[in-house]
Amino acid sequence: MPASGRKLSGVLLTLLEQNHDRQPSLSGRLYRAIRSAIMDGTLQAGDRLPSTRALASDLSLSRSTAEAAYAQLEEEGYLQRRTGSGSFVSSASARPVSGPGSPRGKAALPQAAPQMLLSGRGQRIADMGGCVDALEVRAFSAGMPALDSFPAATWQRLLARHARHAPQRWMMYGDRQGLPQLREAIAQYLSLSRGVDCDAQQVLVLTSSQQALTLVAMMMLDDGDQVWLEDPGYRGAQTAFSGAGATAVPVPVDGEGMRVDEALRLAPQARLAYVTPSHQYPLGMALSLPRRLQLIEWARREQAWIVEDDYDSEFHYDSRPIAAIHGLDHHQRVLYVGTFSKVLFPGIRIAYLVVPKPLVPAFVAGRSQIDGHTSPLTQAVLADFMQDGHFMAHVRRMRELYRARRDIFLDELERHLGGRLLPGSAAGGLQMSCLLPDQRNTDRNLSGIAADAGIDLPPLSRLYLGPHARQGFVMGFSALAPAEIRGAMKRLAAAWRASKR
Ligand SMILES: Cc1ncc(COP(=O)(O)O)c(C=O)c1O
Repeated sequence: MPASGRKLSGVLLTLLEQNHDRQPSLSGRLYRAIRSAIMDGTLQAGDRLPSTRALASDLSLSRSTAEAAYAQLEEEGYLQRRTGSGSFVSSASARPVSGPGSPRGKAALPQAAPQMLLSGRGQRIADMGGCVDALEVRAFSAGMPALDSFPAATWQRLLARHARHAPQRWMMYGDRQGLPQLREAIAQYLSLSRGVDCDAQQVLVLTSSQQALTLVAMMMLDDGDQVWLEDPGYRGAQTAFSGAGATAVPVPVDGEGMRVDEALRLAPQARLAYVTPSHQYPLGMALSLPRRLQLIEWARREQAWIVEDDYDSEFHYDSRPIAAIHGLDHHQRVLYVGTFSKVLFPGIRIAYLVVPKPLVPAFVAGRSQIDGHTSPLTQAVLADFMQDGHFMAHVRRMRELYRARRDIFLDELERHLGGRLLPGSAAGGLQMSCLLPDQRNTDRNLSGIAADAGIDLPPLSRLYLGPHARQGFVMGFSALAPAEIRGAMKRLAAAWRASKR
């Protein structure tokens, strides 16, 4: 940040004094003071703000006053709050709300030269803040695999072998669709383990599921097209589709997953439906067979698309994994997305998209326009890792490990927070949503208190687009050793208890 925390506090104090005319509440004045500091450039995009606790103490305010101001700034897009790492001025905040005076409807940067204007699309993307992933493993960040259990020595051996062999080959440009031997290994795995009916010609190797969703949006959606999104749901999908100019139609989920009847009522002519049918993100239920068939029938009738995001389906603990929708669809309306981020490690940056054969050339062209291709060396190592049997062995070991960690997580949750947090579906995946039955405090507030105790507790309400957000947290367990789960649960219970005094 440009100013030290204390210096910023001084600036805010001055602004607070100047700001008491039309804004009687202290939190309102603080909100305006910080907003002014952002608008006049004292605070710039990416700058980190002091914690609410530190600011409250520097300015002799209550913590709840600082919290209310930060929450409003976040709501309006001036701040991004990342659980566990702090509050930052968002890149989108270098913009006043666009008004009728803005040229061609574009939003103007405050006091910026006209050449700094973003396109309407660019502004939309900046406003949504993009995707922010956890940069370290900590309790209870969601969706992180057990990195210390990955067979790193095997990976290194395969890597060294490929790097030594024909090193110049790996320095060249690579196949735009993906290394053929990796596409082959992925297609085999999908047919055998996921019931996906495809061959290697239909597989595109990409860098991430996020890239797959962005590519689908780019190739299949026009401005204003409607897209059904599960509500609550995965933010990365929303940013990909809304960023491309589509209109998000939030569709509620119940115990059987997306309410397709409701989607049909809200937007029967939508162009695309995004679903996480094996393990709904974040609530964890599976999409029932009748709903799968309903979705397929709708897509056939309307010539619409189903994007099936199968991000962590390898991990089912109490029953056999559910086969993908892709294998049920005989009309080629499913675009299937999978990733190695959860099943191996997120730094690998390899994911895949399976598309109907007639679409392959267009999708390969689109992909090559984004970034050419994925690193050939990593693809070669992964192909060997899969073909030599290490991949399936790892999946089996992790399924056992995560099941045991899930059980410990549930026991510790009951012991320390029984009644205060209710676990949701825990049948699979790397995280589970836990609900707050007592609505006297919000999940965002409680998440802030947890962050001060060094615990990452992503609020569930943030993942809703519609008005009926449930309060709770998306809590990861897979990356945490038993002692870490126990310690963090104890610390969390103590921090919440102390905050009530
Ligand atoms: C539903 C869902 N899809 C995809 C991803 C991320 O995959 P990638 O790292 O390949 O973009 C996540 C990550 O949390 C997710 O929750």
